[in-house]
Amino acid sequence: MRAEFWLLVLVLREAARALSPQPGAGQDAGQGSGGATQGTAWGWNRRAGESPGQVSELDRTQLSQDLGGGTLAIDKLPDNGTRVVEDNHSYYMSRLYGPSEPRSQELWVDVTKANQSQVKVHRILSNTHRQASRVVLSFDFPFYGHPLRQITIATGGFIFMGDVVHRMLTATQYVAPLMANFNPGYSDNSTVAYFDNGTVFVVQWDHVYLQGREDRGSFTFQAALHQDGRIVFSYKEIPIPVLEISSSQHPVKAGLSDAFMILNPSPDVPESRRRTIFEYHRVELDPSKVTSTSAVEFTPLPTCLQHRSCDACMSSDLTFNCSWCHVLQRCSSGFDRYRQEWLAYGCAQEAEGRTCEDFQDEDSYSSSPDSSFSPFDADLTTTSSSLFIDSLTTEDDTKVNPYAGGDGLQSNLAPKTTGSPVHLGTIVGIVLAVLLVASIILAGIYINGHPTSNAALFFIERRPHHWPAMKFRNHPSHSTYTEVEPSGQEKEDSQPLSTLGNFKALPVEIFQIILKYLSVKDISMLSMVSKTVSQHIINYISTSSGSKRLLLQDFHDPELPDREDTTILDHYRSLGLLFKRCTLLLPTKDRLKYIHKILADVSCFKFNGCASPLQCVGLLCYGIFLQTLTAGWDELECHRVYNFLCELTNLSRKMQTAVCSKPGSARKLELRIRLFCRNVLLDHWIHRSDSAFWLTCILKPWPMVNQARLLYIIFGPISPQDGQVVWQKMIEEPTDESCLKGLADAIKLLYDTGTKEWTADDVISLVDELSVVPREWLLENNARLLILSGNNICFTFMASKAVNGRTIELARLIVFLALVCEKELYCMDWAVKMMQRVCKVFSTPVERNNFLQSVANAFACAIMEMLQSVMSGDGDDDDRSFMNLFHLVQAQASFHKEVLYLTMNVLSS
Ligand SMILES: *[C@@H]1O[C@H](CO)[C@@H](O)[C@H](O)[C@H]1NC(C)=O
Ligand SMILES: *[C@@H]1O[C@H](CO)[C@@H](O)[C@H](O)[C@H]1NC(C)=O
Ligand SMILES: *[C@@H]1O[C@H](CO)[C@@H](O)[C@H](O)[C@H]1NC(C)=O
Ligand SMILES: *[C@@H]1O[C@H](CO)[C@@H](O)[C@H](O)[C@H]1NC(C)=O
Ligand SMILES: *[C@@H]1O[C@H](CO)[C@@H](O)[C@H](O)[C@H]1NC(C)=O
Ligand SMILES: *[C@@H]1O[C@H](CO)[C@@H](O)[C@H](O)[C@H]1NC(C)=O
Ligand SMILES: *[C@@H]1O[C@H](CO)[C@@H](O)[C@H](O)[C@H]1NC(C)=O
Repeated sequence: MRAEFWLLVLVLREAARALSPQPGAGQDAGQGSGGATQGTAWGWNRRAGESPGQVSELDRTQLSQDLGGGTLAIDKLPDNGTRVVEDNHSYYMSRLYGPSEPRSQELWVDVTKANQSQVKVHRILSNTHRQASRVVLSFDFPFYGHPLRQITIATGGFIFMGDVVHRMLTATQYVAPLMANFNPGYSDNSTVAYFDNGTVFVVQWDHVYLQGREDRGSFTFQAALHQDGRIVFSYKEIPIPVLEISSSQHPVKAGLSDAFMILNPSPDVPESRRRTIFEYHRVELDPSKVTSTSAVEFTPLPTCLQHRSCDACMSSDLTFNCSWCHVLQRCSSGFDRYRQEWLAYGCAQEAEGRTCEDFQDEDSYSSSPDSSFSPFDADLTTTSSSLFIDSLTTEDDTKVNPYAGGDGLQSNLAPKTTGSPVHLGTIVGIVLAVLLVASIILAGIYINGHPTSNAALFFIERRPHHWPAMKFRNHPSHSTYTEVEPSGQEKEDSQPLSTLGNFKALPVEIFQIILKYLSVKDISMLSMVSKTVSQHIINYISTSSGSKRLLLQDFHDPELPDREDTTILDHYRSLGLLFKRCTLLLPTKDRLKYIHKILADVSCFKFNGCASPLQCVGLLCYGIFLQTLTAGWDELECHRVYNFLCELTNLSRKMQTAVCSKPGSARKLELRIRLFCRNVLLDHWIHRSDSAFWLTCILKPWPMVNQARLLYIIFGPISPQDGQVVWQKMIEEPTDESCLKGLADAIKLLYDTGTKEWTADDVISLVDELSVVPREWLLENNARLLILSGNNICFTFMASKAVNGRTIELARLIVFLALVCEKELYCMDWAVKMMQRVCKVFSTPVERNNFLQSVANAFACAIMEMLQSVMSGDGDDDDRSFMNLFHLVQAQASFHKEVLYLTMNVLSS
């Protein structure tokens, strides 16, 4: 009893200590993440004030991009013809060598004879279709006068030279020996290899086949980038004339192109910026000249950018009108990648009518701006990387001083400290009764409320270092960057917290015995009392008795699948809370590492760990654990978590394999991916925006085609027997709501939650792409998916078809919408109203009449088709075909009835 009394005193003291504000704890917590955003965000921000907005004089190919996400929206501007310059192009001079010229052979770099340590076969590119990957050169390659270090090699026979990777890589900023729809994944013989010996960088597309035209033979060609700026295209094997290659799936081009980017305020969202890409120059090769064993050599001509002084600049007699910008100390014609800066610093006006002597007079002027600031290199490259499979790595945690002047922390802690004295008094009475409970309650008042409530989680997660970043995000137009920078205001805490005070006297063994008697929830509360207590708890978790108690592993309990008696799920929810709390002071990356170390022994938490995944709730528990852990974290940190999981499980590699192999050929893998994504990452979130965030993480790195595949793998219909994805479902027969519900919900999620990564166009394209996975769906299934996805998506989808003049398709879709309405007994009124809305999208009465006529025709056609299939029916399908026909006729009748009602009402009113 005496010993217990001692314990009580110690616990009380410790608690009282814990109730005072702890600047030191904040300090440690602050050394977390958040550093990675600043660089990027600052870049954007800096641009923000300077958007010049005077480039519309150029009327060229235009792409534009929302800055918030990594996505690109393409504006269809009237294209008044890109300037195509032949032969003596102002930036390059091209020489074409025919097959008989000996120079053609000289220009070919024989990679097989080269030093093999300098040759790399790109494994990923060599096995996929429509992919691109970033590669770093060993030298600066001048492209249109701009030194480049990083390029992006694409499977489609070209190199993308831009800094910012977007979906339309083929549009501009390319070096394209032969851009076409090559699929290196088709044959093992196809490779994409590159060679770099310090003076030349060669990319070779070796034995690649055209997608869909594999029978025509393989192509072998290369592009060589020389250190002096020369570019050489060498063609070894071109089995068919380039003019015969179809450009319907992929542009077919050969040549060079460059562009600059302008950031403009977005008209729709006031605080965001749109990135617009203007092509300023392009060289197009004559496709008929691209033949086997020919070569093209591009020699760079001098550009204004090479001049480093005013005199050289002004006296240059290039084809360009070079002018000197004193502020930037740069010579330019105004058309290059730095155009935005050129405009922002008023160089265009400055140059007019000035001579070099004028500048020399203003010495005071010359010292001000920082000419080393290069706008696009610094900020844009950093954001693009996440699009790449190669770079799906976790970022480093940059250490940043948490204090934005200190008030962030103070105001954060204030509510907790003010209430304490009263509670402390109350507690003392209670504590005297039961000794061990004391620590729990004391910890309880520390957080001042229900520990599992959202409010508590909110406090826990608002660690001080979040403040600068959040502030910053709210005021993007005002640079608050300096606040995040280490400011020398580091406050050494006067009270070192590393000791446990008198608690030190307590042997660790006794502490652990106490823990044994506490529930997981209580331990998690206790862990917040002080840093040392939390350290003790961390140690306890690592002991064998601790992990045995905490990491329950009976995931295959037969009673569990009904998930009513969810004790184990609750257990992992509490455990998530415990880990969240006791790792609070670590940076995110260390937090994840630590947690992984502890959980590494649980095999059912692994991607491939469980032998019978369908009967296992392991992944589910893991998901709930992670969700509790990450509740309230900001997006950057959640991205880190995702990247961490990806690295751990090789998720993206596995997805790559799954989406690139023939549908159904990797059934086990598909199933694993589905279970992992659904159980761990997507399901069970309380807020839809969280689900949308994680789904975006999963989908966004991939090109649209693969996104659709993945979506099908994760949400598509599954067989009730073995839980595997049924690929044939949508192609072979009309399905029902249950098969499409998952997909429809996912689409709705992306569309409704309004995440910035998904524009309406993206979602529509995704739906479009989905309807050919793995081959073209029956139109009825398409219609059903649209109906299930909700009115907005349905309408937007149809309107986009209308805008693009795809009237016939649209009409057929309406017929099948009507059919689904009829079959499901939905109100036909809906289909008619939808048609009416779509009708308004057509701009002229002629188009509208045309459309209505097409709808009538489509009904007739569909009926004829079904009639034919009934007539030619061979037994089995007879009944079903007949019922389908019957429904269709009914649908037509009630559709027209609704139309009549509508017109009559309009007439009579
Ligand atoms: C582009 O062409 C359209 C029609 O061809 C014309 O109306 C428009 O003025 C042109 N724009 C420019 C900038 O020349
Ligand atoms: C192209 O330009 C070069 C150098 O400016 C000149 O020597 C050559 O004659 C030009 N060729 C043609 C076809 O204009
Ligand atoms: C091949 O290249 C590597 C690295 O660039 C170099 O160390 C090696 O000596 C080279 N081998 C030959 C035979 O040139
Ligand atoms: C790949 O190359 C080998 C040997 O060069 C050849 O026998 C085989 O037919 C080629 N395969 C394809 C698909 O071209
Ligand atoms: C790199 O390779 C090219 C082409 O084979 C050759 O001309 C050049 O001398 C090589 N450079 C070095 C540094 O080996
Ligand atoms: C250069 O300037 C002159 C006079 O201002 C103008 O006539 C000419 O078209 C310009 N050349 C180019 C390539 O812009
Ligand atoms: C992930 O892939 C890499 C390379 O293929 C391999 O070395 C590593 O062992 C894999 N990791 C896991 C957890 O499968």
